[in-house]
Amino acid sequence: MTLFAFEAYEAMAAALQSATGVLLGRFQVARFENGELYILVKSPVKDQDCVLLGTIAPPEEQVFSALLLAHTLRKEGARKVTAVFPYLAYARHDKEKPGESLAMPWLGALVQASGIGEVITVDLHSERGGKQFPVPLISLSPAGLFAEALKRCGLVEATIVAPDEGAIGRCEAVKKAAGIAPGKTPYFEKHRTASGITHSGPVGDIGRRVVLIDDILDTGGTLVSACERLGKAGVEEIHVMVTHGLFTGGRWRDLWRLGVKRIFCTDSVPGVRGVDGGRIERLSVIPLLKRELCALARV
Ligand code: R5P
Repeated sequence: MTLFAFEAYEAMAAALQSATGVLLGRFQVARFENGELYILVKSPVKDQDCVLLGTIAPPEEQVFSALLLAHTLRKEGARKVTAVFPYLAYARHDKEKPGESLAMPWLGALVQASGIGEVITVDLHSERGGKQFPVPLISLSPAGLFAEALKRCGLVEATIVAPDEGAIGRCEAVKKAAGIAPGKTPYFEKHRTASGITHSGPVGDIGRRVVLIDDILDTGGTLVSACERLGKAGVEEIHVMVTHGLFTGGRWRDLWRLGVKRIFCTDSVPGVRGVDGGRIERLSVIPLLKRELCALARV
């Protein structure tokens, strides 16, 4: 099996190589003079299983590069191409709204047309999105990683809170992995208004120390609004755990002044912008991917 990794994921690929013994494939993404992309595959792939490690997050060039690489691998005779997109961008575009694009099935069709036989991701945004995707999609749970961090940082006694109803399942998976008694997870009701996100709640009992768990920190709007409510409810200490840290713009930095002590996120999105005094801790998804690649190699 040969792993073809895009530049931003090279460190992850090197770690996966030493952990699994998978070969690292060589390729180049280049442009013709007129700006059109092309791919040069420099390692033999005929009759081999190939794994592509990268992203389809903006800029859109990354979608083209990943899909064109997959297509080229198949054209060169690869038996199967599996795409590992640790963060599956566009997965939030999964709700039917009149006149608005619905990216998940569209993206799935592109993935399928490019010859990708299976996609592996971490913490897919919704089951609904998975059902819209025409290619088999494996979503790896980060619950074990968060559970370990909770134990290591003495946070097992804190109240786990979901910033919206969609996050309740994630919170419950982390509680289970950490051996915390199930019980009903307190949550917020999230409302999208013309002026942004607002929350009502929390619904359920919360203590003085809280851990908010969600799949994505994008602009931070959701968590900022939830933290404002937690402050009003008398919470003194907040920790945040998110699978995918996008850290778009600067609004998320308001989390610090709202009582957030630390943000844990995985390395599904490479390179957290801004160091923020070590208050952002990255948990590696390599153990999850390693398990999956070993299972693939055995097939
Ligand atoms: C929404 O359903 C997601 O689970 C996240 O809560 C949301 O996408 C986070 O985005 P932002 O940080 O921009 O509020």
